[in-house]
Amino acid sequence: MTAVRLRPEQPSDVPAIRRLLAAAFAHSDNRVPAEVRLVDALRVDDAWIPELSIVAEVGGEILGYALLSRVRVDPAGFPALCLGPVAVRPDRQRAGYGSDVVQAALSAATELGERLVVLLGSPAYYRRFGFFPAARLGLTSPWSGLGDPWQALLLPASAGDAAAPSTAAGTAGSPAGAAGPPAEDAPVPPSGEVTFPGPWSLV
Ligand SMILES: CC(C)(COP(=O)(O)OP(=O)(O)OC[C@H]1O[C@@H](n2cnc3c(N)ncnc32)[C@H](O)[C@@H]1OP(=O)(O)O)[C@@H](O)C(=O)NCCC(=O)NCCS
Repeated sequence: MTAVRLRPEQPSDVPAIRRLLAAAFAHSDNRVPAEVRLVDALRVDDAWIPELSIVAEVGGEILGYALLSRVRVDPAGFPALCLGPVAVRPDRQRAGYGSDVVQAALSAATELGERLVVLLGSPAYYRRFGFFPAARLGLTSPWSGLGDPWQALLLPASAGDAAAPSTAAGTAGSPAGAAGPPAEDAPVPPSGEVTFPGPWSLV
């Protein structure tokens, strides 16, 4: 089996990422999926973090993609990340590329000292990475009404974060996809409303 290379996107990857998103989220009426427009809009927004737009490249082809971009928990203004979209080329799904690219994105976020990731998605899929219902952290969003698909993950403190402020243990999640132990000594994010930047109004 050809090795998978997990890496941040490069400018030359943009057309292939668009094609991948268009295929993974395709509509029967051929309309451009909102996820294509969302990623294009986030790429030129302050929410974009270049290191956290991750591709899975196999044999020179981009087969998987995962994006973490900036959101915040208000009123505290606590910085968090939203995971999504996540996509694997339809003819290569269920071969582990989705898991690979999500775990690579979460590990990169941990390395950057990030603490909290939220998403809207299938609990059956995302619980394998340690996500749990965001309501357990008192986190709300326009998606709260959908219940358990509104999810959160606490990232562990990275090695470079030894001086980070210590608070009560964050035990609600076990971030299987991120490097290091659970977030025992990481600050617990405040409860509140997660605010999404403008591009998210496209979805
Ligand atoms: C969802 C997606 C990213 C998963 O990537 P993948 O490479 O196919 O998945 P993996 O090989 O890493 O994992 C396979 C497992 O995920 C499960 N899975 C795949 N898609 C799923 C879904 N939509 N809901 C629940 N579980 C799903 C499979 O049943 C399998 O479970 P198992 O390990 O218990 O057998 C991919 O199927 C995809 O691009 N789907 C279309 C776009 C989409 O819906 N993206 C998610 C938006 S939040």
